Amino acid sequence: MAQRSQGWYAGTGRNAYIHRAWMRRGVPADAFDGRPHIAIANTASDLTPCNMHLDEVADSVKRGVLEAGGVPFNLPVMSLGETQVRPTAMLWRNLAAMAIEEMIRANPIDGVVLLGGCDKTIPALLMAAASVDLPAVVVPGGPMLNGTFRGQRFGCGTGVWRLSEEVRAGTLSQEAFLESESAMVRSKGHCNTMGTASTMACMAEVLGMTLPGIAGTPAPDSRLAEQAQLTGRLAVDLVAAGRRPSQVMTRASFLNAIVALAAIGGSTNAVLHLLAIAGRLGVDLTLADFDASGAGVPLLVDLQPAGDYLMEDLFRAGGLLAVLHQVEGLLDPSAITVTGEPLVSALTDAQVWDSTVIRPLSEPLQHDAGIAVLRGNLAPDGAVIKPAAATAALLQHRGRALVFDSVEDLNARLDDPDLDVTADSVLVLRGCGPKGYPGMPEVANFPLPPQMLELGIRDMVRICDGRMSGTAYGTVVLHVAPEAAAGGPLSLVRTGDWIELDVAGRRLTLDVPEEELALRAADERTDSGYANPQRGWQKLYVDHVLQADTGVDLDFLVGTSGDAVSRESH
Ligand code: FES
Repeated sequence: MAQRSQGWYAGTGRNAYIHRAWMRRGVPADAFDGRPHIAIANTASDLTPCNMHLDEVADSVKRGVLEAGGVPFNLPVMSLGETQVRPTAMLWRNLAAMAIEEMIRANPIDGVVLLGGCDKTIPALLMAAASVDLPAVVVPGGPMLNGTFRGQRFGCGTGVWRLSEEVRAGTLSQEAFLESESAMVRSKGHCNTMGTASTMACMAEVLGMTLPGIAGTPAPDSRLAEQAQLTGRLAVDLVAAGRRPSQVMTRASFLNAIVALAAIGGSTNAVLHLLAIAGRLGVDLTLADFDASGAGVPLLVDLQPAGDYLMEDLFRAGGLLAVLHQVEGLLDPSAITVTGEPLVSALTDAQVWDSTVIRPLSEPLQHDAGIAVLRGNLAPDGAVIKPAAATAALLQHRGRALVFDSVEDLNARLDDPDLDVTADSVLVLRGCGPKGYPGMPEVANFPLPPQMLELGIRDMVRICDGRMSGTAYGTVVLHVAPEAAAGGPLSLVRTGDWIELDVAGRRLTLDVPEEELALRAADERTDSGYANPQRGWQKLYVDHVLQADTGVDLDFLVGTSGDAVSRESH
């Protein structure tokens, strides 16, 4: 079958002439003779520090494409620096996915290599690739090397949360805190904890969308360049085989990803991203699948924020494949990778080289590390909690609500010495969902009141319709759906109400009679303070964004449009 790109380049007519001529610039005519044209969708950006090095990775991919007889093209695409963009990178994930989708489809290419790293970049790339469904493969940019501070491992992200709490508690000086700043990011690469970037690199691999064994290869490691070059070769093979994301990312792959998510102690953000990617593919995946497939999966990886080590340690200890080998019995063997082979066939030679980092099944860090999905009258469509990052004693808890209407309200009142709070209080933060903020920021792991810190308390139950950084920890109920701004019951909670968290029973209950809640709903103030944008992307987003239980995609982006472009440009 003729390559898709030949629809632009083949023939002797004026249009084909135009497409070829502008691309020639020293390129021989036989580059347009039907050999595969591979785009490298590259999220390199100086304002996405975790992806700054991806141009180097692209060079390796290019070499591989050329070796295999293809023609590579660098395609810079929208990038998102998690720590840089406001109000939250999640607001822009769908915009990036939409723009990348359209650029993959609009251009004369036959396959695409997806280069991502920082949190939202791999999800956006995978959502886009799923909706176009051209042959595609991911190269994760890799984590940075281990940071250290004062002789201790210093995890990117996690260390900031921990030290800033220490400053607030008065146990660490401001000077020492600032001294740690330059110790944290030691090399190129994304966060080295099991945060969202590391998690999504692993998810891409378990979904089958990378060369097996590449996820978690540190960015500065020469083996990443080698794997990137091999991926370039593979991209050409993928086109020849006609193997598309829809053939690789099946329901079996997603269920395997959920197992892996628990075993590695991955970020709760993966729940949203996996649901959104599945939605693009038409794969039937629901929040309930996370509870069902993740239930009873042990936490085997001792990485921050749940544990002690960092991604460089995981790579040294055997990497993701060694982890998957331990839980192979829980994986669906029918799921394949971009190689065309079953994922499980890549596990045969996987070994654990350091069992303090990758624990044996007989000695897991936790026996049941799956993300728990909670329901109840406070979260009719669901909420999630990551027990692996929570305080065990708080997983069953009843306390009185202390409500904050917004992040601004929280910031204004949290340090008030007269705040009516006890260690048993349940801190509620609302207005942080997809519509309300807008964009669902990572604020659910908000700080504790100083008076609690002074008592030595380091964790309290928190409930929020926003997200939590994958590098954070705490007994945090997040992704409450529907969010307050969408009329969810979270909007009706008042300070002093009793709330019960029962993780074992998967319940989140607001102990207020239905009649009282109905009265409050009728009485709800109209000036809610929730976002009300009037133009641009934010207006489009707020008008069309879906809730957390289905992955926070836009309603009109769910599904696929394929790779066809019916009209010529001139
Ligand atoms: Fe980019 Fe953490 S900020 S991966």
